[in-house]
Amino acid sequence: MGRKFFVGGNWKCNGTVAEVKKIVDVLNGADVPSAEEVEVVISPPFVFLPQVKALLRSDFAVAAQNAWVKKGGAYTGEISAEMLVNLEIPWVILGHSERRALLKESNEFVADKVAYALGQGLKVIACIGETLEQREAGETMTVVSEQTKAIADKIADWTNVVLAYEPVWAIGTGKVATPAQAQEVHNNLRSWLVANVSSEVAESVRIIYGGSVNAGNCVELAGQPDVDGFLVGGASLKPEFIDIIKSAL
Ligand code: G3H
Repeated sequence: MGRKFFVGGNWKCNGTVAEVKKIVDVLNGADVPSAEEVEVVISPPFVFLPQVKALLRSDFAVAAQNAWVKKGGAYTGEISAEMLVNLEIPWVILGHSERRALLKESNEFVADKVAYALGQGLKVIACIGETLEQREAGETMTVVSEQTKAIADKIADWTNVVLAYEPVWAIGTGKVATPAQAQEVHNNLRSWLVANVSSEVAESVRIIYGGSVNAGNCVELAGQPDVDGFLVGGASLKPEFIDIIKSAL
């Protein structure tokens, strides 16, 4: 079976109750490919998750943008995987580069989060990607394979994992990776999975691209054989997100 195209909208730390309603209205009114053809997952900030879940069309799912690394308890300010499960939030984004950089989340910490969230029954969008400095030093594959290895070392089942390759230099900068650059890393990642996990996982796991995806560049990126979808930041707050969903076809 082929890999179903996946489009995630990461709203990051944006929105008000009124704005959320407006974005959801646009999503709900949109004519998009069926859920058999594209999987759409919307990730608002924690506080808006119940609102979005309640209002959003049933063929789109929701994701949290983070979860705590273990069972909840005395961890002020954190949200546990169990809480997300309790609220019937099916997905969580983990290891986003903004958290890796600003909150110093290490490869191991991210991998622990991925393993814990999967263990609780959540599906995970696991983010990896190199900085500009690392790319220019020719370290892209070393960095992304180390990030992937940390996860691979801690999980046995990849069924509920989507791998999001997000070059840090392309995030929120307007400087998108070229289709060839994205394809090269995605293809190398698949080869890494063949060699280090299994050919079944390499063939079935979806590797999506994130970093300045918009209505103008999504079709060409989506045409790359190893690009299985997108994790969209800025453009997911705008009506052009619909065009990005449509790039699945
Ligand atoms: O999670 C999404 C990525 O960080 C991409 O963000 O589309 O605003 O560049 P962006």
